[in-house]
Amino acid sequence: MSTGTERSLVQAEDLVREYQVGDQRVRALDGLNLSIDGGQFVSVVGPSGAGKSTLLHILGALDTPTSGRITIDGVDLGSLDDEAASAFRRHRVGFVFQFFNLVPTMTAWENVALPRLLDNQSLRKAKPRAVELLERVGLGARVDHRPAELSGGQMQRVAIARSLIMDPTILLADEPTGNLDSKTGAAVLELLSEVAHDAPNRLVMMVTHDAKAAQIADRTITVRDGKLA
Ligand SMILES: Nc1ncnc2c1ncn2[C@@H]1O[C@H](COP(=O)(O)OP(=O)(O)O)[C@@H](O)[C@H]1O
Ligand SMILES: [Mg+2]
Repeated sequence: MSTGTERSLVQAEDLVREYQVGDQRVRALDGLNLSIDGGQFVSVVGPSGAGKSTLLHILGALDTPTSGRITIDGVDLGSLDDEAASAFRRHRVGFVFQFFNLVPTMTAWENVALPRLLDNQSLRKAKPRAVELLERVGLGARVDHRPAELSGGQMQRVAIARSLIMDPTILLADEPTGNLDSKTGAAVLELLSEVAHDAPNRLVMMVTHDAKAAQIADRTITVRDGKLA
C-alpha cells in the first residue's frame, strides 16, 4: 500500500475534534494541519490540554475527527468503515502508552504476541517473532517473566516490542517515559529513535514532556490550542 513519493506519510488537513460535555463544547483540535514524512522520530510537545493525545488517537484511527481530512500512507482514514478502521489499526499502527497496558496474567512474550492473537493468528506461531523482538529491545533473558516481575523500564520495552509485532507503518507513543525515572526514560527514548530508523519509511510519533526528547528527535512539533504552533 505505497503512496506517491511526492506525498508525505501523514497528511492532515483542517482537523477539528469537538467534544460536547453537558452544554459546553470543547474544541480539542481546531483546524490542525500537518504533513510528516516517514523514516523519522517526531516528538510532539505542548501544554497540557493542547490536543496532543487527541491528535495521536485520530492518527491511529482510535478516534475520528469532527471534520477535516487525514491520510496515512495514501489511506484516507475518513473513507474507512468501522471494520476497515479496526483492521487499519491492527495492521498499520502500533501504540505505546504511559502505563504500558500489559496483560498481567501473560508472560512477556505472550504480551508481545497478543496483537497476532487478536488478528486471529495462533500465539504459538507468533512466539519466535515475539522472542526476537524481546531480544531486540534487550529483554532476551525475560521472555517468560510476567509484568509484575519486571521493572517499569522493562515493561515499557515489552510494550514497544508488542507495538512492533505487526510491523506497523506508524508507531504512536503517548508520554512513554512519563512513568519512568530519567535514566530509564532516556534509554526508552533511544530505543524509540532506533525503532524509527530500523525500517524504511516507518514513522514514530511521541508525545512527551521530556526535555531530552527534543535533542534526540528528528523533528519536534508543538501543539497549542488545538493547532500546530
Ligand atoms: N473524551 C473527552 N471528552 C471531553 N473533552 C475531552 C475529552 N478528551 C479530551 N478532552 C478535552 O480536549 C482538550 C485536549 O485534550 P488532550 O488531547 O487530552 O490534551 P493533551 O494530550 O495535549 O493534554 C482538553 O481540553 C480536554 O479536556
Ligand atoms: Mg495527553
